Amino acid sequence: MCGIVGYVGSRPCRDLLIAGLEKLEYRGYDSAGVSLLDNGRIESVRAVGNLANLRSAVEAAAGNGTVAVAEAEATIGLAHTRWATHGRVTEENAHPHGDCSDSVHIVLNGIVENHSELRRELASEGHIFSSETDAEIVAHLIERNYEGDLTAAVRAAFAELRGHYSFVAMHADHPELLVGARQECPLIIGLGEGENFLASAIPAFLNETRRVMQVENGDIVVMTPDGATVTDAAGGELDREVDEVTWDEEAAEKGGYSTFMMKEIHEQPDAVAETITDRLPNVDSVDLSELDFTNERAAKLRRVVIVACGTSYHAGLVGRYAIEHWARIPVEMDVASEFRYRDPVLGPDDLVIGITQSGETADTLAAMRLARERGAHVVALTNVMGSQATRDANSVLFTRAGLEIGVAATKTFTSQIAAMYLLGLWLAEARETLEPKRIAELIAEMKSLPHLVEETIESTEAQVRAVARSHFEGRFFLYLGRNIGLPVCLEGALKMKEISYIPSDAYAAGEMKHGPIALLDESTPVVCVASDSPVLDKVLSNVAEVRARGADVIAIATDGSDEVAETADQTIFVPRTDWVLQPILAVVPLQLLAYHTARLLDLNVDQPRNLAKTVTVE
Ligand code: AGP
Repeated sequence: MCGIVGYVGSRPCRDLLIAGLEKLEYRGYDSAGVSLLDNGRIESVRAVGNLANLRSAVEAAAGNGTVAVAEAEATIGLAHTRWATHGRVTEENAHPHGDCSDSVHIVLNGIVENHSELRRELASEGHIFSSETDAEIVAHLIERNYEGDLTAAVRAAFAELRGHYSFVAMHADHPELLVGARQECPLIIGLGEGENFLASAIPAFLNETRRVMQVENGDIVVMTPDGATVTDAAGGELDREVDEVTWDEEAAEKGGYSTFMMKEIHEQPDAVAETITDRLPNVDSVDLSELDFTNERAAKLRRVVIVACGTSYHAGLVGRYAIEHWARIPVEMDVASEFRYRDPVLGPDDLVIGITQSGETADTLAAMRLARERGAHVVALTNVMGSQATRDANSVLFTRAGLEIGVAATKTFTSQIAAMYLLGLWLAEARETLEPKRIAELIAEMKSLPHLVEETIESTEAQVRAVARSHFEGRFFLYLGRNIGLPVCLEGALKMKEISYIPSDAYAAGEMKHGPIALLDESTPVVCVASDSPVLDKVLSNVAEVRARGADVIAIATDGSDEVAETADQTIFVPRTDWVLQPILAVVPLQLLAYHTARLLDLNVDQPRNLAKTVTVE
């Protein structure tokens, strides 16, 4: 989740742009850059690391003759903070990116899905690339289509791109024109007096203007100092709302939400989309070439072992069901703090996956190192480029959730589940345990997940708030589930414990009668994950068992499962998908339940007591 800012107006904009980047720092980044157009020339400065590095690189620019940047007179420019997805963290890979003659410069947030084929095509036509990124493609595509009209060239390039992105372009011949395009990833217009901004989030220009114009999917934005016009991909003009933003500085950092956790819950559709988009370039196969693990070796694997802690462990549990069910390979799970002292039996035919969003959790790192010492191939599933886990593993699979500030993991959890689904399908393909037709069906369903996550947030929140209002003074929450629903329960209970401090337990529903049922009375809220699975009927009999003890049962069910609604006291429905994919949706109302319960108790959900975002101690 990169940060992009563009400015066109009458004020010198170098420092305006960098100040805008500072307001987007919360999105997280590993490198940054700025491009300025002055006297028909575009010059840019890029730097790895934080914005202080970019500032010193800009100062240094004065020394090496980059006039526009040094003199800072330019009144049109682009700037970017990068959260690397394609290509290492280097100056060359930092944005803005230019075409062959530096006439076109672009900044992009998101993922270009068909970047490999477009790069091959453009290279065969003689285009020279200076970075490893998917984004640079866009500058060359615009160059290829440019015949004096930048807007037309951007439209033509937009028509060839596939993916989940938004970008802004400028051309040396057009000192008063920026053209942007949005495909899923956020883009917003800041309307000023004789100046305008295009950015990935409002905080980038909130100090300069509070008038914003919305940009929808598929929109092309043509921006000059005098105004902004929004058109569809064919050029037809569109009417877009102009709003007045009333947020204060703190709210701005949280994207208008009252907490980082709520912002991050709402960022899940983007996080899931960016995690899967370019790994599903085709309709019938998964591209995990970044794992550097051959299909032959995958076919010969004896076992998969997953080690992790906390929420990451729960993502691994969901992954186990997907991998065993699709790829028919045994999956062993263990919390890392136990695994590393268990003297585990491991060897070269084992694939060990260390799941850690921060990439710095001591127990998980130690478990990964142990596995590597014992000859297993170790994959780190992490959200942070350059983290220790990326160095301790043989290969890395990145989730792409962007920086997560709230201590209670949300968007990294759903992104981890999405990555586990990719792994499960990739292994099934390599081991030929699923028909290609079945793989294509599941890939099609996976591509719909970002929208379904968004739909789930919108469709369940009101009902969840009501449940929280009726139970936030409760003494105990019980979560019940079976099969792939159990890890969702474990995660729901962990969230409730972490941020509301209410004792909560998650239990395999079939185990209830062996003890925990004694805990139930009329006041106990029992959250039951009854989404589709091979054992739904069993879950329903457990729900009946619990209701018989007078407990208030709140069920999470798959759309259309009327039998659940007939059994539970209240039912919260999530969109229908294949049962293996249900956890990525079913967890959303549980995240919201913990959140609204904690808010009703007036607790600090972003920084709960006794907890750190990254646990680097053993
Ligand atoms: C989850 O909300 C917690 N912050 C915690 O359980 C966390 O999942 C655990 O510490 C593992 O962190 P990691 O994914 O960074 O390794």
